[in-house]
Amino acid sequence: MPRRDYLDWIVYQIYPRSFCDGNGDGIGDLNGITAKLDYLKMLGVNAVWLSPCYKSPNCDNGYDISDYRDIMDEFGTLDDWKRMISEMHARGIKLIMDFVANHTSSEHVWFKEARSSRENPFHDYYIWRDEIPNDWQSCFGGSAWEYNEETEEYYLHSFAVGQPDLNWENPKVREEMCAVVDYWVGMGVDGFRCDVLNFISKDFAKGKICDGDRLHEYVKELFGREEVKHVFTVGECSYGENEIADICGEDRKELTCIFQFDHFCIGKTEDKFVKADLNLNDLRKTLVKWQNICERKNLLYTLFTDNHDNAHYISRAGNDLQFRYECATAYCAMFYLLKGIPFIYQGQEWGTPDPHYPSITDFCDVETINYYDAHKDKLSEEELIGRINFGSRDNTRRPLCWTNDKNYGFSSAERTWSNLHTRGGEVNLEQDRESEKSVFAFYQKTLALRKESEAIRFGSFEDCTEKDGYFAYKRVCGGDEILVVVNFDGESEIAGLPEWEYLFGNGQKRSANGRYSPFETAVYRKRRKI
Ligand code: GLC
Ligand code: CA
Repeated sequence: MPRRDYLDWIVYQIYPRSFCDGNGDGIGDLNGITAKLDYLKMLGVNAVWLSPCYKSPNCDNGYDISDYRDIMDEFGTLDDWKRMISEMHARGIKLIMDFVANHTSSEHVWFKEARSSRENPFHDYYIWRDEIPNDWQSCFGGSAWEYNEETEEYYLHSFAVGQPDLNWENPKVREEMCAVVDYWVGMGVDGFRCDVLNFISKDFAKGKICDGDRLHEYVKELFGREEVKHVFTVGECSYGENEIADICGEDRKELTCIFQFDHFCIGKTEDKFVKADLNLNDLRKTLVKWQNICERKNLLYTLFTDNHDNAHYISRAGNDLQFRYECATAYCAMFYLLKGIPFIYQGQEWGTPDPHYPSITDFCDVETINYYDAHKDKLSEEELIGRINFGSRDNTRRPLCWTNDKNYGFSSAERTWSNLHTRGGEVNLEQDRESEKSVFAFYQKTLALRKESEAIRFGSFEDCTEKDGYFAYKRVCGGDEILVVVNFDGESEIAGLPEWEYLFGNGQKRSANGRYSPFETAVYRKRRKI
């Protein structure tokens, strides 16, 4: 498929456990997703990225897979999945599956075999050492090496202990993983989101747990093959300006695009649980920089603010109390009218903020629990719970709040798998849609403009900002010209912009120049000559 066609895609990320419970057991599932497809259509998206729904013992909520070809019992059956994809396709919605290539679950039959003896044919599917060879740390804290009694060796796990890393140097592993890709492509999936893909190649000599020098060879082997090269692929591997074209350049036969995380890292400390000081002017500069790089290098950029691994952007980098509506809509316009492929995370479209809980027993995520255990002797409880409320991945994994009803419409069960959102009574879809200030309605308008306007999808990008405090840019394609103005957290006096027709915004109808209030945004279009 020509690259340009992907600029028509608008992707919605579903974290299945927390999206919608179809059978009343308190856990989101595939039938729950199928029941919401008309809703997604109405929002205006045309693709879904589904976080893992495969068989898994859930040490990392499905990112620890024990069977790549079947569905987790709690989520339903393969037949439910088939019904879901066919209902998606019937509505013109594509399906992007999550593809976890770096590791399996320790409950996967390959690992159970592998750990039983050094002679077992599956032993070499994983990475073993007699002694701990280096100080590699797991991304979830602690050593990345775990002892295995049966073989008296250590195995590598870049993530949780229950997520042993596969040995991609073994050609059999590569064959198996290609077969997994083929299996799902054969079942009709349209793409893959490739989990921590740059971890599949390591470099022991250079001490690198990821980004080894065979990465490109492996990725080509997975996705460069004739049979699968039509599928969309987005890699979770944040490369900089110099390396990005090596993995998603048009001629590379590797990935369609990657998630570039620079805008997530602004002001960030080493420790993701410590509040970062995100300066919105730096955010603007980062977005401008990446618009220009992608234009120059002919690359597809991905536009996203939220995902299942981070706090909501309006909470960590905005104002989710005083200006929740304004901030959610300002970020919607700022990101989703840029050039690239929008990814919207579930609940973002009605301005879901981070919740807040008093105790560690309110949290479920493995990374969060490990962090708590590692810091509980060093920090006061108050400081630690504050950090956890800021940085926990549970922030975006709470059951979605659809209505004002029981469990906010997520489930009819007595208990949901994780605590309900602490602000669910105040922020839910039903309430949002009844309000004059509806974040959902703003998302609909933004996505509708994307669909209709060639300037937004294909046009060039021009930064029109003249000073700090706001972001103004133009998108231009032939006679179609759009101007987007987003004011940041203070008041700003904006001048020098063209006076075009006002399309929509999050405040009163207004002219492009003048005084803007915090997080005020407006979108304009040049009248076309007929
Ligand atoms: C990715 C996923 C994250 C998961 C990790 C290990 O970063 O987004 O949720 O825990 O990989 O699979
Ligand atoms: Ca369920």
